[in-house]
Amino acid sequence: MVTSIDVFAKARENERIAQMNAAREIGAMPYFHVLEGPTLPVVEMEGQARIMLGSNNYLGLTGDERVKQGARDALERYGTGITGSRFLNGTLDLHLQLERELAEWLGTEAALVFTTGHQANVGALGTILAPGDTVIADSGDHASIMDGVILSRAKLRAFRHNRIDRLEHALQRAVEDGGGVLVVVDGVFSTEGDVAPLPEICDLCQRYGARLMVDEAHALGVLGARGAGTCELLGVEDRVDLRMATFSKSLASCGGVIAGPMDVVEFLRIQARPFIFTASGVPAAVGAALAAVRICRSDEGPALFGRVLDNARYLHGGLRELGFRVVPPTRLADGTELITPVVPVLVGDDWKAAFLWKALYEAGVFVNVMIHPAVPPGGALLRTSVMASHDRATLDRALAAFAAVKRAFEAEHGPLPAGE
Ligand SMILES: Cc1ncc(COP(=O)(O)O)c(C=O)c1O
Repeated sequence: MVTSIDVFAKARENERIAQMNAAREIGAMPYFHVLEGPTLPVVEMEGQARIMLGSNNYLGLTGDERVKQGARDALERYGTGITGSRFLNGTLDLHLQLERELAEWLGTEAALVFTTGHQANVGALGTILAPGDTVIADSGDHASIMDGVILSRAKLRAFRHNRIDRLEHALQRAVEDGGGVLVVVDGVFSTEGDVAPLPEICDLCQRYGARLMVDEAHALGVLGARGAGTCELLGVEDRVDLRMATFSKSLASCGGVIAGPMDVVEFLRIQARPFIFTASGVPAAVGAALAAVRICRSDEGPALFGRVLDNARYLHGGLRELGFRVVPPTRLADGTELITPVVPVLVGDDWKAAFLWKALYEAGVFVNVMIHPAVPPGGALLRTSVMASHDRATLDRALAAFAAVKRAFEAEHGPLPAGE
């Protein structure tokens, strides 16, 4: 017997492919544009200088001479790649040094370096959880968290984004599931840029006996006096069981880390499939991340964290004044308002977002576009993000482009969503 179903049919009949082709035809395809130089505040992209408001290079360290030197030194000493798994022939003293310094920075017993942040989440969740356990995740959590849950085959209970009452409801239900319970949230949410209410989440986890893991991808090197992330800023470092972070944002490199108790980290070291069955991070990436960690932990760190947050406030305020709908700041317990380097502009309609992207791109500003399924239907947004190294003149030029694009767009298509 021969099957009549071609597994490749999905590739030919895919709705997203049709959507992308339609966008490409009218020049409004916002993805896969090509950089022709380093990720700096202004980049060369497809033959033109464009203000980069779409990177996660929050501290601007990808162009820092010391970080580049860290990469060069590692490349010279160890070569281009290690051609093997951390488990076998792929562990360098550089990986172990980075693990020690990350654990010291985060104040945890131990840390484990993965090749990417995605693998860190998949490895941790896929290994710690098992069928019979329950994982409770915020609906705004990063896709890599969801991938880890899928690998684990634990029961997923998702709760509505940042809704503590929904989390409590999920915890009540999860206790009846009969297995262990892990709550996992982003510290700073990657799309909305808002912050998880960690003290309240810790209280609930304690009340229901659940463990808590926080993904600090967008908060490491940004939040807290030491730059150790949301857990530090909100004073819950010793109440959170596991912390994940990536090197692909503030640390200007590529890689990921899980930090927590020694026994759990050692368990991951010998059991996590996405750690064992892949090649270890290349020397240049590890050397760059280590140099960036050292800058964050030096006297220079706080000024850098302050600068990126100042820029975020400036861009957020400017966009709000222009009448764009922005995500409101997170109000902290002491009454201060926090705006993280992720500053989304809410648009609503997918096509409107693509047209705005095109107009901004042509005006010399690059932003990221998030459409369904990355966001809920009707929740399309332009995800802008700043670096510590953006100067005010550059941000002002970007805001002027936003103003001109908004005027022209609204004259033709009617008003965009406004307010917070
Ligand atoms: C919240 C969050 N977690 C994890 C990741 C994955 O990190 P990496 O890019 O290092 O694979 C990302 C990256 O986009 C992220 O935004």
